[in-house]
Amino acid sequence: MTTLTSQPLSGLLDRLFEEANTATSPAMGNLSLEECDRLMHSKTEYRHLYGLIRDLWLPVSRETGNLLYMLARSSRARTIVEFGTSFGISTLFLAAALRDNGGGQLITSEFEPSKVVRAGQNLADGGLIDLVEIREGDALTTFADLPDAIDLVLLDGAKSIYLDVFKLIEPRLRPGALIIADDADNCPEYLDYIRSAPRTFLSTSFADDIDVTMRLA
Ligand SMILES: C[S@@+](CC[C@H](N)C(=O)[O-])C[C@H]1O[C@@H](n2cnc3c(N)ncnc32)[C@H](O)[C@@H]1O
Repeated sequence: MTTLTSQPLSGLLDRLFEEANTATSPAMGNLSLEECDRLMHSKTEYRHLYGLIRDLWLPVSRETGNLLYMLARSSRARTIVEFGTSFGISTLFLAAALRDNGGGQLITSEFEPSKVVRAGQNLADGGLIDLVEIREGDALTTFADLPDAIDLVLLDGAKSIYLDVFKLIEPRLRPGALIIADDADNCPEYLDYIRSAPRTFLSTSFADDIDVTMRLA
């Protein structure tokens, strides 16, 4: 048995995915597709967008969660950084891998205060809060100070600043580190950067929207 497939985490994830599926956002109904798209691609107004839709969970899929767990386990990750906590679903998968790897540290960043509180509660309910530091605020600020030798990164915050956030993390990556970018198809600037350096990064896409990259030696 693993932490992921045993209680309390297994039942907790079932409940959280169900809650995420039924969450609605009144503000989203008043937002045109064009305006949503404009805000999503803005480097200055992303905070406004996520404030409007703060009731939405926007979690990784269960398949992506399982992939995160497997990549963190197989790479024996001990130090993980996550951009975009939301209510903590992806954080739970990653922290479960840390627990099964024998311990470690997961630093995650979220700027919506209500989400920080609920993510902390979910991690406590899953028995994993001792492995996680939730940094409240914009990752562009909260990631100014990161540990050395990061083993694995999940990029899942504002799409317009994946590259800016990644550049804060990049100097701290250990050779062989993995970077998983969710919704990477919406982040051409990040993908161009990674793919323009074939001696430094090996990168491949799955299921249209997930990019997995390895930092080469
Ligand atoms: C797609 S959701 C993350 C989902 C989460 N990874 C999961 O699987 O449950 C993106 C989250 O990132 C947060 N976010 C976006 N840009 C951010 C930033 N610059 N700094 C901190 N949090 C950010 C949003 O508030 C939102 O909750």
